[in-house]
Amino acid sequence: MTTAPLPPFPPGFRWGVSTSAYQIEGATTADGRGPSIWDTFARDPGRIVDGSTGDEACDHYHRYAEDVGLLADLGVSAYRFSVAWPRVQPTGAGTANPAGLDFYDRLVDALLDAGVEPVATLFHWDLPQPLEDAGGWLHRDTAARFATYADLTAARLGDRVKLWITLNEPFVHMSLGHGTGTHAPGRALLFDAFPVAHHQLLGHGLAVAALRARTTSPVAIANNYSPVRLAGNSDADRAAGAAYDALHNRLFTDPLLGRGYPDGPGLDPGVVRDGDLDAIAAPIDVLGVNYYNPTGIRAPAQGSPLPFEIVPLAGYPRTAFDWPVAPDGLRDLLRWLRDTYGDALPPIQVTESGCAYDDVPDADGRVHDAERIAYLDGHVRAVREAIDAGVPVTGYFVWSLLDNWEWAEGFTKRFGLVHVDYATQRRTPKSSYAWFRDLVRR
Ligand code: FCB
Repeated sequence: MTTAPLPPFPPGFRWGVSTSAYQIEGATTADGRGPSIWDTFARDPGRIVDGSTGDEACDHYHRYAEDVGLLADLGVSAYRFSVAWPRVQPTGAGTANPAGLDFYDRLVDALLDAGVEPVATLFHWDLPQPLEDAGGWLHRDTAARFATYADLTAARLGDRVKLWITLNEPFVHMSLGHGTGTHAPGRALLFDAFPVAHHQLLGHGLAVAALRARTTSPVAIANNYSPVRLAGNSDADRAAGAAYDALHNRLFTDPLLGRGYPDGPGLDPGVVRDGDLDAIAAPIDVLGVNYYNPTGIRAPAQGSPLPFEIVPLAGYPRTAFDWPVAPDGLRDLLRWLRDTYGDALPPIQVTESGCAYDDVPDADGRVHDAERIAYLDGHVRAVREAIDAGVPVTGYFVWSLLDNWEWAEGFTKRFGLVHVDYATQRRTPKSSYAWFRDLVRR
């Protein structure tokens, strides 16, 4: 592990940690919350590896004050959480449920009292189930519904949230939720999932307009990116790499930054109506970048339904998720964004970066997660290198504050700076928490 001191970061650089509603809150029926697609999906036998649900998760809904205390002790300048749409609009439509918004009101005030800037994501995958029943993101009307929900939420919190993020990782919600069906809502449509890309992007654009009418705080979107590493150098491999790049890295960024959709197999924009691309390209103030790992790609076998094949990358250490640890991928990605989008690129904040390891408390109850420290150290250095190369990066958020409910992996993957014993809900800061606190202090 690297031990050289980290070089200083520009003044005002935002250090934070991230979470999302369904992964930590629990209390899924409290105060009028309606069901979301993840409540439904987690109950479908065989979908979640350990058969668990987010019914209790980290019980953050009741323990938020303790968790804000952990943030204050950590000394971060910002905390990125998500608002659960089914708390605000239990059926996905109609007037706001005040009791649902009350929770975020209390959370935001507690954060401000603790000197931590609230950063709110409006959609981190927990669509109200009634909207899914009406077609979900395959259905154009969901985009308009999302803008209404954004308006209702900003009407209540717009005076205090310091950065708004419309969508979290629309690529992952499209591909895993609607392409392969490994996430909620569990649809396996492959490229027929494309309308989900367009309707999320349209919802983003309409929500940006709704937010602008309610707040002067900056507005962003958080995209997932994964640089392509070719596992061969034939023309067919290169074509496969370009196809994957278009799907994962450009489908959700080209139209946001005013370029329309990239050409590529399966991206036939039949659902795009006049005016949509202008709405999607509404200026944003920050581009959120979620980065975990690069993707190995080669040409597909004959007869494959996909224009690429994903292959494991050799030669990297791996996390408990079996994801390769490749900080150079983050540096390359940040440079690629700058080189590709040039002046159209707004300042970047890394809105998620982190890793899962099998953290077990020792006999004294301490969790020594040296691998996580090494991971974060490498990725923070990669950001620093990108800044030195002229990329405008203004923040870095660790995923995650707490161990939490990791979607289809249930409770089996721990990403937190803070260990959670799910039987007792006891929080234990890991060594990485102390390491990050020291970094933030410096
Ligand atoms: C990201 C998600 C986040 C978490 C991390 C590990 O794709 O946005 O909720 O699951 O992966």
